[in-house]
Amino acid sequence: MTAQAGRALQLSGVTRTYGTGSAALTVLHGIDLTVGEGEYVAVVGPSGSGKSTLLNIVGALDRPTTGRVLLAGEDLTTQSDARLSRLRGTHLGFVFQQFFLLDRRSALENVGDGLLYQGVRRAERRRRAAEALRRVGLGARLDHTPAELSGGECQRVAVARALVHRPRVLLADEPTGNLDSASGRAVLELFDLLHAEGATIVVVTHDESIAARIPRVVAMRDGRIESDLHHGAAV
Ligand SMILES: Nc1ncnc2c1ncn2[C@@H]1O[C@H](COP(=O)(O)OP(=O)(O)O)[C@@H](O)[C@H]1O
Ligand SMILES: [Mg+2]
Repeated sequence: MTAQAGRALQLSGVTRTYGTGSAALTVLHGIDLTVGEGEYVAVVGPSGSGKSTLLNIVGALDRPTTGRVLLAGEDLTTQSDARLSRLRGTHLGFVFQQFFLLDRRSALENVGDGLLYQGVRRAERRRRAAEALRRVGLGARLDHTPAELSGGECQRVAVARALVHRPRVLLADEPTGNLDSASGRAVLELFDLLHAEGATIVVVTHDESIAARIPRVVAMRDGRIESDLHHGAAV
């Protein structure tokens, strides 16, 4: 086994500065964070504390200014943009507050289209998309377009789209932020289920009641980790 075995994610000394010179604004100040395979982590903190910046760096959507980010032992900070985008397609699933579904495409197509770039053939795309949609409880809604689905169902389509790649890590940034509380709860129950099935999940939320049900809670403030608790005890 390598030294990285069992670690899905490892950040060390991660900083992020926007702008340069007198306009420079540092919004992450030396973040150290390790997430094990199969862990379920909430990242909480007030608006502007750097949660999305951190998640985007973990999700290879952005690069740190300094520091290292290892995904399954591979250093993201030294990869080309092309390699990063390939890693996003194969290792990471991202769910956003806005669902980012294509209006005119069915649930099946919204989920299956993500496999186009990996060269997966149509029949296989449809089979895997249907499987992912069944996993999120939408097996009876495959042919519905987003307009024919509720907000909660749209977010579950977005979760299926993230899962269809069979990612090593599922990342979600305020996934319940646009949902009523019942739909939000259903999405979180889905995350609980995925976690029970072995998924590694990092979910950003500013909702304390959501965070309270997640085993590990990383609290951020002003670009730093203020606390890191596992069922209320320090990690
Ligand atoms: N592209 C950007 N350019 C400059 N500042 C940014 C940019 N994105 C975010 N910020 C700033 O970084 C800080 C952290 O933002 P963000 O990570 O979105 O926080 P959170 O998700 O916790 O609300 C904020 O002060 C925000 O204004
Ligand atoms: Mg945010």
